[in-house]
This record gives sequence, structure tokens and C-alpha cells, in this order.
Amino acid sequence: MRRSVARALVRPLALAAAAAVIPLVGAAPAAADSVVVGGFPIDVSQAPWTVALSSRDRFGGTRAGQFCGGVAVAPTTVLTAAHCLGEDVLGGPPNAARDLKVIAGRTDLLSGKGDEIAVRDARVNPGYDATTNAGDFAVLTLTKPLPRSAVVPMAGAGDPAYTPGTEALVSGWGDMSGGGAYARRLHAARVHVLPDDTCARAYPGGPEGAYRAGSMLCGGEAKGGPDACQGDSGGPLVASGRLIGLVSWGSGCGRPGNPGVYTRVSAVARALDVFSGGRAGSDEPS
Ligand code: ARG
Repeated sequence: MRRSVARALVRPLALAAAAAVIPLVGAAPAAADSVVVGGFPIDVSQAPWTVALSSRDRFGGTRAGQFCGGVAVAPTTVLTAAHCLGEDVLGGPPNAARDLKVIAGRTDLLSGKGDEIAVRDARVNPGYDATTNAGDFAVLTLTKPLPRSAVVPMAGAGDPAYTPGTEALVSGWGDMSGGGAYARRLHAARVHVLPDDTCARAYPGGPEGAYRAGSMLCGGEAKGGPDACQGDSGGPLVASGRLIGLVSWGSGCGRPGNPGVYTRVSAVARALDVFSGGRAGSDEPS
């Protein structure tokens, strides 16, 4: 994931040129089936908790500054990936990024629809391990609440939605091809929760990370295909109406034998108590 982090960074920047091409590609019906290696375009109303993380200072305005995804779990609380807020990404500590915003209620990044809400506070999980990628989450507190309808509940430990075989939806504005075709419109991909074994075998430990069943969740399709990709990080994996994962890492995108690895949300919920004083789920964090 260190490598992916660099990609998540470098690619959006390098995207300026590619972005000019995306609207054309996105408009072609034939291309719509091949997005995010098996994904499809959706309207944000179909997954209203999906937000874009934006910094135009850092990433320019071509894609409204989008560089990662996020998910609203309370009106003023957004979860994202810890690696999205690294110094290598933001150029300094997260709270020093003056124009860090979340974009909510917007399908097309360049449409001006929905809301851009400034981040009042950003906390990276102090337990995040950049070597394995374990604990890859961060909590953002917004300056202004999102509507209740834009919030998705977190699935707690023992929730049946974590059972392998469960169908889940991942959404984001990330790479649609694995080759740097960043989406301008929100896309989603249908994947299944996979057994921990599958990811433990695929990722015993390597340059990208190591699978840790306690804090990670394995998702994708055994034969490859639908998957999240660079630029989707921090965004939601939802099953049965509940948040089970945050896009975290993987080796390539949609490759057979290399499923997507997600931050396990039950582990986030447990940790939130500790590092947000138990208030992350309330309307008025203090
Ligand atoms: N690290 C990527 C990001 O920063 C997400 C990669 C997810 N990869 C995957 N194959 N599911 O956006």
C-alpha cells in the first residue's frame, strides 16, 4: 500500500491530462460496462453516504480536488482511510491542510451540485500500521452537518453482513481501468465478502501489506473483475444497508487471485471509542 499511497497521490496529480479524456470515455455507453473493472455508474442518491475527499490546493481543480473517498457515519462524522491523510499525500499533518473538504451529494465531480463542507478536525488512527496497512482509518469532523439520510450505520462485530458470500457494493470516483482512468462521475462495483483465508493466502506479507483478519476484510470476486481501485480509498463497502468496509488496499485492481482489502468497520467502531472519546457517532462531537 505504500506503493499505492504514492500512486494515489501521484496519479491524481498526473491526472490533469488524463482527466480531459475521461468525460469523453464516460459518455460512451460501451465504456460504462468496463468501469472499475466491472463497475457501473450510479447516482449519488443510490449511495448518499459516499463522499469525495478534496483538496484543490494539493490536487488542482480538474477533478474538484478529489483524491480519496470517504463515508458519512453520522451527520458531522466521516470515515476515510488513514493512508489518505499521510504526510506524503497532504504534504503535512492533516489538520494543517487548510482546504481539506468533503464533497457530498454530488455525482459528477465537476457539476457544482451538492455540498462542499470543510473539515474541522481530522484524526488518523494512532494504531495505523503502514507496513501491514492494519487499522487503515481516520475520522473527519465536519463544520456543518449532512442530512440524516446521507448517513449509513456501521455494522458491529458479529453482524451477519460480514459473512463470506454476502453481496456488497463499493462506491467511489477512483480509477476505472487500473491504468489511471479516474472517474468524473460516481461509480460502484458489486463484490462479495470473501473468506479471510482467501486474502491471507493472497497477502501473506509483501510490499503492499499483509492481511490481518482482525482489522481487515476481504472482498471481490474469485475470478477477478469488479474491484475498487486507486482513488477509491477511504470509500464505503456496504452490505445489507450497513457499512462493513473502507477501501484500503490490494495488489493491482480486479486481478484474479488478488482481492480487494478493506478496513473492517467493526474494528473501527471499537477503536472510535478510544480515540474520539466515544463521541464519533453523535451529532455534536465536542
Ligand atoms: N490504495 C488505493 C487508494 O489509495 C485503493 C486501492 C484498492 N485496491 C483494490 N484493488 N481494491 O485509493
